[in-house]
Amino acid sequence: MKTTFSIIKADVGGCPGHAKVNEKLIEVANRMLQQGKEQGIIKDFFVTNCGDDLELIMTHDKGVNSSEVHQLAWDVFKAASDVAHELGFYGAGQDLLKDAFSGNVRGLGPGIAEMEFTERKSEPIVAFMMDKTEPGAFNLPIYRMFADPFNTAGLVIDPKLHSGFKFEVWDIKEHKRVFLNTPEEIYDLLALIGAKSRFVIKRVYPRSSLPEDEPVAVISTEKLFQIAGEYVGKDDPVAAVRAQSGLPALGEVLEPFAFPHLVSGWMRGSHNGPIMPVANKDAKCTRFDGPPRVIAIGFQVKNGMLTGHEDLFDDPAFDYTRSKAQEIAEYMRRHGPFEPHRLPLEEMEYTTLPKVMDKLKDRFEDVE
Ligand code: F6R
Ligand code: MG
Ligand code: MG
Repeated sequence: MKTTFSIIKADVGGCPGHAKVNEKLIEVANRMLQQGKEQGIIKDFFVTNCGDDLELIMTHDKGVNSSEVHQLAWDVFKAASDVAHELGFYGAGQDLLKDAFSGNVRGLGPGIAEMEFTERKSEPIVAFMMDKTEPGAFNLPIYRMFADPFNTAGLVIDPKLHSGFKFEVWDIKEHKRVFLNTPEEIYDLLALIGAKSRFVIKRVYPRSSLPEDEPVAVISTEKLFQIAGEYVGKDDPVAAVRAQSGLPALGEVLEPFAFPHLVSGWMRGSHNGPIMPVANKDAKCTRFDGPPRVIAIGFQVKNGMLTGHEDLFDDPAFDYTRSKAQEIAEYMRRHGPFEPHRLPLEEMEYTTLPKVMDKLKDRFEDVE
């Protein structure tokens, strides 16, 4: 039996500001997904938030890009954004970039990470959700899970992982993709994905013990800027990662987040800062609208049902990382408007530079 695991997310309004999704929007989503479950559109669901992003986690047997499932998600976002409008929440409906739904939420604003796979006897899967950053923020942790033996001991000592994985990498500027095998091609892979604003890991596939055409990880890669043609908000990404039995163990999947690496997207989508792994209760972006956060909800899936879940970063084992992230946040903030805290010109989401250049144009003089 094949199961589809879908995470579809959107920012349809924050309260207050861009800090957090209000409980009232979570209620709307829970109510409507319960109806969707009763109508047989989905099998099971879990609603949560990371910062100001409303996250719909759904299981079903309709495959990826199902118009029924996407319609349900779109209706939830529409209804939640109506409530956000009524209550005057901030940026109400901001990620719903088109008015009409036409069979698929792709290209309409929401972010999507979904994969269809044959359920194993026991199927652990982790939903990662980030706020105030971009899809490339997943490059480093996904690489470490599936290709770095210093992170994933199983790559070295578990015969089922020893042949490595296949990475599907997207060039999000040129709209092209390439498949690279690890460990043979790790240098080529790193040459691409180290440039995380352009090359992003979209999916990872197994190379032994599991069906080779069924992904074991998937990351949302929607770029809101490219869809809207102007800055409308950050493309805060999500990812789903399967674990154990021939795949990285749960602890190997979480281990990369013990390092609060620098990501882009903090404050006005224009600053670099550390990604801080937090419990869902702490997934609200406060200091300088951040720092960028990541949450991880782990599930067991059985016959398409979410039979149990756990808030995985709600754990003192990540306290050290959080305090390290605070220290890095403090260090980065002291740079104020200077790079590398502020992003390079071409990557900033907000800029006054054309106006400043225009104002000063007559005062610029030639120099030798
Ligand atoms: C939003 C974000 C925030 C906003 C900032 C300014 O996801 O990253 O940092 O960019 O709060 O928002 P506006 O321009 O709406 O006042
Ligand atoms: Mg927002
Ligand atoms: Mg957000």
